[in-house]
Amino acid sequence: MVEILFGKLALPKDGVLVLPVGEELPLTGEAAVLDETLGGTLSKAMAAAAFKGKAGQSLNVYNAGPYKCVLLVGAGKEDAPRRAELLGASIAAALAKESEAAILTDGFSAEQAAEIGLGARLRAYKFDKYRTTQKPDEKAKLKTLKLLTAAPKEAEAAWEIADAVATGVEFTRDLVTEPANVLYPAEFAERTEGLKKLGLKIEIFDQKDLEKLGFGTLLSVSQGSVREPRMVVMQWLGACGHGNEKKGDDKKGSKKPKDPLVFVGKGVTFDTGGISIKPAAGMEDMKWDMAGAGTVAGLMAALAGRKAKVDAIGLVGLVENMPSGSATRPGDVVKSYAGKTVEILNTDAEGRLVLADVLYYAQERFAPKFMVNLATLTGAIIVGLGHEYAGLFSNNDELVGKLTEAGEAVGEKLWRMPLSKEGEAYDKELDSPIADVKNIGGGRAGGSITAAQFLQRFVNNTPWAHLDIAGTAWATKNAGVTPKGATAFGVRLLDKFARGFEG
Ligand code: BES
Ligand code: MN
Ligand code: ZN
Repeated sequence: MVEILFGKLALPKDGVLVLPVGEELPLTGEAAVLDETLGGTLSKAMAAAAFKGKAGQSLNVYNAGPYKCVLLVGAGKEDAPRRAELLGASIAAALAKESEAAILTDGFSAEQAAEIGLGARLRAYKFDKYRTTQKPDEKAKLKTLKLLTAAPKEAEAAWEIADAVATGVEFTRDLVTEPANVLYPAEFAERTEGLKKLGLKIEIFDQKDLEKLGFGTLLSVSQGSVREPRMVVMQWLGACGHGNEKKGDDKKGSKKPKDPLVFVGKGVTFDTGGISIKPAAGMEDMKWDMAGAGTVAGLMAALAGRKAKVDAIGLVGLVENMPSGSATRPGDVVKSYAGKTVEILNTDAEGRLVLADVLYYAQERFAPKFMVNLATLTGAIIVGLGHEYAGLFSNNDELVGKLTEAGEAVGEKLWRMPLSKEGEAYDKELDSPIADVKNIGGGRAGGSITAAQFLQRFVNNTPWAHLDIAGTAWATKNAGVTPKGATAFGVRLLDKFARGFEG
């Protein structure tokens, strides 16, 4: 993890110095002063290398005056969206071989200085716990970044919040990257217990608890695995004046959530497809079929870490989907927690079975103001939207507006997809000849939509949205603030969304 520090806006004595350079203006302020003392070395290098300050451009000038290196980094256009955090990301990318550097944030506000730090830290993320030997360029070298700003105290205050969000993102990325032999349901649940120190209330439901509750669809997924299932409920009660607590009732653990935001995640720690087994090629990707749950856990860590003034509940359904003598067969009928019977025609359509029970439980217990679930639910969403947008399905236009806007602001984009009312169009495909509902539609057509329709059968009148993140949870190349690998798509989006409800 890169440590972010702040200091006064002044040229450092030596070391590696980073100068952001905008597209509109050449070197200004302290940078211009430095260029002059260096006899124009920087401006000459810029001209020679055709460095125009465009976002993503960078130029190393080694042995410039007292500095080991002056790194010029393109800051792009002044009005570009997310300019500061993307600048931070390209600084981290360009600094790959350095262990520490100072960034002169002349022309940026204290908040923007913190955003530069956030972008740099997110982009510099590396998961290398299983490497016992490393090639030099694979090592996570960058250790400390010092942001030099006109108002370091203000920047530090802004950083406290960004730091909590970055910690949440990193928590999610770690969970999602872990292999399935290490991260199985019980292990995932145990890792959420570590979040208690942030003030989160954590409840873990084991196999017996879930059997007692009657979580028939969730259990039908895990029954083929030797790994027991879990459900974790994470509560962050940060809203001021709950209004419903009795006198002297403000002791730890006695508060009750009021109109909470509820987040639900699909946590299939490995998805073989079960008896409807997947082809071998690419099956290793299914270790990240718990990204929805990983995102909910990281989001709860972020909200608690920054002491968000909201009541938010995160619930994750954790299972492993395996074929075995005890596994669910295609054609089996099971009873969900909601009481509806489900005919399972394809055991690889398992995420919806996990979510059905958890969504219903969440509504019954918490009466959410809004409920949002995240799931790597369908390959079909990748066919439809690729890796740029996650699919957004919702029964509520206001919620769609808030989520889309939050996503735009943090660069985690959502695209709304259609949903039919129960009994109409897409929904009718889920009618089963022998049970209340079947777990797949008629054919491959509209596969992401029929999956969402299945979830909707377990949503009552709650304003609800489903984010299908199968195309955005994992990246095969570096881009912006996300290095390749687990992206933690949704943590920043939903953190931003939650800010809209804080007093
Ligand atoms: N976890 C998969 C969806 C998935 C596929 C996520 C590729 C990420 C990358 C899900 O459980 C699944 O297998 N869905 C099936 C549904 C089908 C059987 C109706 C699919 O998409 O093929
Ligand atoms: Mn599956
Ligand atoms: Zn799956």
